[in-house]
Amino acid sequence: MAAELIDGKAFAAELRERVAGHVAGLRAAHGIVPGLAVVLVGEDPASEVYVRNKGRQTVEVGMASFEHKLAAETSEAALLDLVARLNGDDAVHGILVQLPLPAHIDADAVINAIDPAKDVDGFTLSNVGLLGTGQKAMVPCTPLGCLMMLKDRLGDLSGLDAVVIGRSNIVGKPMAQLLLGQSCTVTIAHSRTRDLPEVVRRADIVVAAVGRPEMVPGDWIKPGAVVIDVGINRIPAPERGEGKTRLVGDCHFESCAAVAGAITPVPGGVGPMTIACLLANTVTACCRAHGLPEPEGLTA
Ligand code: GUN
Repeated sequence: MAAELIDGKAFAAELRERVAGHVAGLRAAHGIVPGLAVVLVGEDPASEVYVRNKGRQTVEVGMASFEHKLAAETSEAALLDLVARLNGDDAVHGILVQLPLPAHIDADAVINAIDPAKDVDGFTLSNVGLLGTGQKAMVPCTPLGCLMMLKDRLGDLSGLDAVVIGRSNIVGKPMAQLLLGQSCTVTIAHSRTRDLPEVVRRADIVVAAVGRPEMVPGDWIKPGAVVIDVGINRIPAPERGEGKTRLVGDCHFESCAAVAGAITPVPGGVGPMTIACLLANTVTACCRAHGLPEPEGLTA
């Protein structure tokens, strides 16, 4: 393997330490405890795991965690009512409504009901618009984590060619905005892109966020490029025994690592950074809510 491994787990642990330091400082100097409310509707097993991890890590860094688990049949009106109460609750500085929501609920309506100042996911129209116009926004957690790792590895990104594969609202689009904000030349590729291999071969930075297991092979990667693999896909692993599975990214790890300059592994790359960035955003939101200076080291 030629590529340096970008250790997201270690990076996330460092970020959580910085968060914990700021939390301790807020408590000692001002008696303020940042609070994060997470709302889960229904019983999607993957979402339940995420929400449990979020709650545990929130408490570990010294913040207050408010978990709201609602039945799958919860009405949109009841969910909007909960969001309104959290908006008005001074102990809550960050609100996250776990997606996907059940089909009978209009997810856009719920997300946009969140007070933008408490929107630690950065999904409200207000924060999307602020990010797109280069203003101070709450930045979505996964792209924020990717940018932190890219800047740590590359320093100044100005003038670099970046290709983002995937155009989701949660990752692809905000990732492209962040890279543009760093003066990269940005291409967003997707399922209709013509000659994707050639597009990817031009890139100094590849961010893969499509959700297709091992879709990007090593011969698409420019030698020395930095590869950030956002995909987390579970695939059958009969070699580990009957019915066993394993996690893989959107990039074929071995072949990409043989060519890239640096690459994030799956698991242990982007994944751990997402929750750490959520905690960081909550502390940032808390400081803004109290008119305190922006904490250092929590944004890219
Ligand atoms: N579901 C998967 N990823 C996310 C995320 O980053 N935020 C929310 N709210 N839901 C998700």
